[in-house]
Amino acid sequence: MTPADWPEVAEIYRQGIEDGEATFETRVPSWQDFDAARLSDPRVVAVDDGGRVLGWAAAAPVSAREAYRGVVEHSVYVLRAARGRGVGRLLLSAFVDAAEAAGVWTIQASVFPENAASLRLHEAAGFRIVGRRERIARSAAGPHAGTWRDTVLIERRSARNGIR
Ligand SMILES: CC(C)(COP(=O)(O)OP(=O)(O)OC[C@H]1O[C@@H](n2cnc3c(N)ncnc32)[C@H](O)[C@@H]1OP(=O)(O)O)[C@@H](O)C(=O)NCCC(=O)NCCS
Repeated sequence: MTPADWPEVAEIYRQGIEDGEATFETRVPSWQDFDAARLSDPRVVAVDDGGRVLGWAAAAPVSAREAYRGVVEHSVYVLRAARGRGVGRLLLSAFVDAAEAAGVWTIQASVFPENAASLRLHEAAGFRIVGRRERIARSAAGPHAGTWRDTVLIERRSARNGIR
């Protein structure tokens, strides 16, 4: 992902927010805020043959503490018109490879239990369910505005990095 990809990345993020099953976030940040809050590596986009961005994946550190330097929380978003065609699977696979190469040992995410596509995608990529967090936060906008929602905490432990 380069700064030039941002308009397309932002639109894909906007669609995910609008659909209401991806995140508690209510608006797309500026490139500066997006970039500052996330690691530069791993960070990937999927592009089609014509160079159009079809999806992206990026991660933020879960903690500033040194001991947690290999633990990240990620997001993966695919363009609405490109979903259900294997783009997410390719993207997540590339993202996991990049995370492994960068020394990450745990990738985690919080997924709404209603997000069947995300749960299936992550299960297939070796993520496990840690647990369900009941009514963890309240949706502030979109189709679930005002509703306290559960999330499912998932994680993928690296066989290569960290404890063996
Ligand atoms: C979740 C998301 C990234 C998946 O990407 P995708 O390109 O649509 O997924 P893929 O086509 O690679 O499919 C991955 C797996 O999920 C399954 N799947 C896809 N859409 C599905 C759906 N609507 N319901 C159930 N399973 C679904 C696929 O069958 C596939 O599993 P399989 O290989 O066992 O058949 C995409 O739907 C998306 O961007 N959603 C909006 C943003 C979002 O929710 N991001 C995740 C936040 S946690």
